[in-house]
Amino acid sequence: MIKQWRLDTNNQSLVLSSSGNRLPCVIYWGKSLPSHESPDEMIEASKKDWGDNLIDLVPELSILPEQSANFSGQLGSKMRDINGQLLSSSFVFHSDKVSANSLTLIYKDKELGLTYTAKIDSMEEHDVFALEAKIESKSPIIMEWLSAPVIEASQNSNEIVGYGGHWGGEFRRQITPWVTGTHLRESRVGTTSHAHFPGLLIPTSGSSENSGSCYGFHYGWSGGHRMVAEQLQDGRKQIQFGHTENSELSPGKSFETAKLYITHSGDGAGGVGRTFRAFVSNSLVDLPKDSIRPVHYNCWEAVYFDHNIEELKEIATIAAEIGAERFVLDDGWFKGRDTAKTSLGDWSVDDQKYPEGMHPLVKHIHSTGMTFGLWFEPEMVSPDSDLFRSHPEWIMGEESQALGRGQYVLDISIKAVQEYLFESIDSILNEYPIEYVKWDHNRVLPYPDASQTRALYSLLGRLREAHPGLEIESCSSGGGRIDYGILEHTQRVWLSDSNDALERLRIQHEALIWLPLSVTGSHVGPKVCHTSGRELSMSFRAWVAAQRHMGFEMDPRELSSKDKKLLKSVTLWWKQNREWMMSANILRLPCIDKSVIAEIQVNSKGDHFVVFAGQNAASELSSSAPLVLAGLDSKSMYNISLLNTKEIKSLGKSEEGLLTKKLMLSGQFLMTQGLQLPKVFPANMMVIEGDKAA
Ligand code: DGJ
Repeated sequence: MIKQWRLDTNNQSLVLSSSGNRLPCVIYWGKSLPSHESPDEMIEASKKDWGDNLIDLVPELSILPEQSANFSGQLGSKMRDINGQLLSSSFVFHSDKVSANSLTLIYKDKELGLTYTAKIDSMEEHDVFALEAKIESKSPIIMEWLSAPVIEASQNSNEIVGYGGHWGGEFRRQITPWVTGTHLRESRVGTTSHAHFPGLLIPTSGSSENSGSCYGFHYGWSGGHRMVAEQLQDGRKQIQFGHTENSELSPGKSFETAKLYITHSGDGAGGVGRTFRAFVSNSLVDLPKDSIRPVHYNCWEAVYFDHNIEELKEIATIAAEIGAERFVLDDGWFKGRDTAKTSLGDWSVDDQKYPEGMHPLVKHIHSTGMTFGLWFEPEMVSPDSDLFRSHPEWIMGEESQALGRGQYVLDISIKAVQEYLFESIDSILNEYPIEYVKWDHNRVLPYPDASQTRALYSLLGRLREAHPGLEIESCSSGGGRIDYGILEHTQRVWLSDSNDALERLRIQHEALIWLPLSVTGSHVGPKVCHTSGRELSMSFRAWVAAQRHMGFEMDPRELSSKDKKLLKSVTLWWKQNREWMMSANILRLPCIDKSVIAEIQVNSKGDHFVVFAGQNAASELSSSAPLVLAGLDSKSMYNISLLNTKEIKSLGKSEEGLLTKKLMLSGQFLMTQGLQLPKVFPANMMVIEGDKAA
């Protein structure tokens, strides 16, 4: 007997089918099918001819590939009994729960006493499916690997797009061709990691940035993930996502994956990005819909550990004058914290640096009109701290382990550690008017441990429950913990410790697929960048920050009056535009000239836009290629002008075109011929505004 299930979002269908009582396979995932499409016919149309030297049936690629079903690729789970004996499941249909936008399938292996539950939610209006799996056992078992429901990827695809990266250089796109065999990505550092972002794109052949069929996957988990993309010898391709292998350290009776979010778009990788961003802003991140994102000032690169109240007040005054609205006091404020090597865990205000507590500083910050935010790194402890001296048994791993940034990781799954952290942070939040916490995490775990991540989510949840409205930023040496798991508990991410605007431009361009502007922090750094030694103009630094959630992080006392004035005017521009930018339709604009990194942000009414075209390197051509726009109405006319002509530095001889003229062009022209950009030096941002002509 054939069983079939179908889920739809506004623009997609996902169809599963199983024969007999076996686990089902995804037989269709893509653009919406007509409601009368027959799964029987789809199954018939998908039947494979089968070669020699194989068994006499085609092993199914089910949502949990099993050895017992003759599947010879990567299996969907790996379990052992507590004696270490491998358990080879053979799940049989038990029951299903079906509603308009949710499907729960329950399968049992009576002999082994196991129950497998797959749940798929269709978030109709967000156009995203969320898939999760759970295995329950009558007696304790060891769970080495469990994949979220496995998806068969389109065979009409040549490549796998993922992201590598490192500290200060996150979101490096990696393109891997599909070949027979396995492409494995795994973060084994106990966090999401800089090196293995848990997002994946499968573009189909012929698709591009803004057209064609593309599939997107994101595993919402902050403890490190494992991703397997495997092409079988018959050409079928499977995608598995789950927690890092062997990160469930204790035997148990119930194990579950995090949510695997998937979406398909007919508008290329850009379409996947627009869907994911809208989903993250409107459904995942807990921020009031109309909340205005304040301009940040963060003092880290201005003072590091050297906190002096009078200096900080002076800095705050200037930052507010330029336009900052929230002052974030970074690392260095707590007991004895004069270097990165000490004091983590001792969460009380340093009485040398702050003899009357932080009140005088907070009062001053408030008097400038800014609100106050504070840095913590709760999951860590320094060997040189009161906490470690009194509780050496609270760390993860051995005392003799190699330190990371001079620190250990606390085992926050221990109840007493959770209590200690909750009380320490809660008491600071009670004493001071803190509306924002920058939550840092600066070393890798000594071993992956899923219970650490569960404890983190519960601690964050508890703190936000006790302090409603508290916003939290996820930072892990920059972008080491960015994923849809942490974004259920936090409201902003610190994308990278690199404030080098050239590098930042690239990073935020790549990250745009996954992260809305509203949660993506971007700061104007010091004149000479602390992570690259490069000196970049204020115009370039400011406009790169103005593409996302803007902030400053330099010592504002270093600014010349010219730079201060310029930063003030870009900040004012950002404030005047931020409201519509938060819900803008953003499209990346691939340029044939690879030295240009560009995007267009179009307001929701479609009558105003801004193009950010960053010259990221020297052009390959003597005059850069026209930039072809997207996302406009082909029939409408637009008034277009370059907003920051006077800031542009160039060798260009021409005073013509966009540099000096206001132009009126149709959407059709702009999206076909494109706009000839001026010839500018590297590290210039061209900001082009357009308005629909009446
Ligand atoms: C690493 C972060 O990424 C920085 O922004 C800063 O907060 C430091 N930690 C503080 O130690």
